[in-house]
Amino acid sequence: MTRLTRTTFIAAVLLSSPAIADQQDLVARGAYLVTGPAGCGNCHSPMGPTGVIAGQELGGRLVEANDMFTAIAPNITPASHIAD
Ligand code: HEC
Repeated sequence: MTRLTRTTFIAAVLLSSPAIADQQDLVARGAYLVTGPAGCGNCHSPMGPTGVIAGQELGGRLVEANDMFTAIAPNITPASHIAD
């Protein structure tokens, strides 16, 4: 087996491994839940006049401020440039 063939074979085995496929499925499932039925963006996404501000999904926002408490849903993205 040439080095290129061996490398290609190993890459093919690794990329088709169930562990990686399972992990990709889990990430996709989590993204679906967070952006869909779980409604996390209802509090965590900043809103403009026409809805969620594009590019700032899950970037954090002030949910409630009254005499008794203030509730801020923080930035729950890995991006630190989004205000929280
Ligand atoms: C009803 C509004 C609301 C919804 C819906 C909501 N959150 Fe939150 N979330 C908050 C608030 C408010 C806080 C801050 C709580 C505090 O500071 O004690 C918070 C805090 C968090 C934190 C902690 C962040 C940190 O840095 O400490 C995470 C993580 C989080 N929420 C994830 C989620 C996820 C995932 C969902 C969807 C499944 C979700 N939230 C739905 C209001 C909400």
